[in-house]
Amino acid sequence: MKRDVRDELIRQAIEIRQRAYAPYSKFLVGAAVRTASGKTFLGCNVENASYGLAVCAERSAVFAAITAGEKQFECMAIATQGGAMPCGACRQVLSEFNPDLPIYIVDVENPDKIVEGNLWDLLPGAFKLDEKKSKSQGPKSPSPKSKVKTKD
Ligand code: THU
Repeated sequence: MKRDVRDELIRQAIEIRQRAYAPYSKFLVGAAVRTASGKTFLGCNVENASYGLAVCAERSAVFAAITAGEKQFECMAIATQGGAMPCGACRQVLSEFNPDLPIYIVDVENPDKIVEGNLWDLLPGAFKLDEKKSKSQGPKSPSPKSKVKTKD
């Protein structure tokens, strides 16, 4: 990813964060996802008085892209105060489309220090309905670092 493209994606995530509707948590999140066609789709978190109905910024961005007919995701930028990582639900949703998605995490109070990550590192071995299909889509096979121990 070219530096200027990355920086523009980050700028858009910071900007769209201002549209977040988060009167309950007061935690604003902005997300920008770039697709293979060079388009960018934006999302912010939308909360509700019925707290459990909140939708995260990352999923808003993904759903906007899908609605526009785009599903080849190249990278995503996420902007929060403090540089939060995406939640587990969003990791799973992103993984559906690109399990190896590069992710740029930005702290809006320190926007020059970008943490670059990769979805596979955040969610190795994401759930797939068809395991054979998941192996052909993903670049690496899941290799859990910790093994489940049973009592003997
Ligand atoms: N939130 C996101 O938008 N993305 C995440 O990955 C984690 C959390 C939102 C949901 C809620 O509106 C607020 O942040 C506090 O949890």
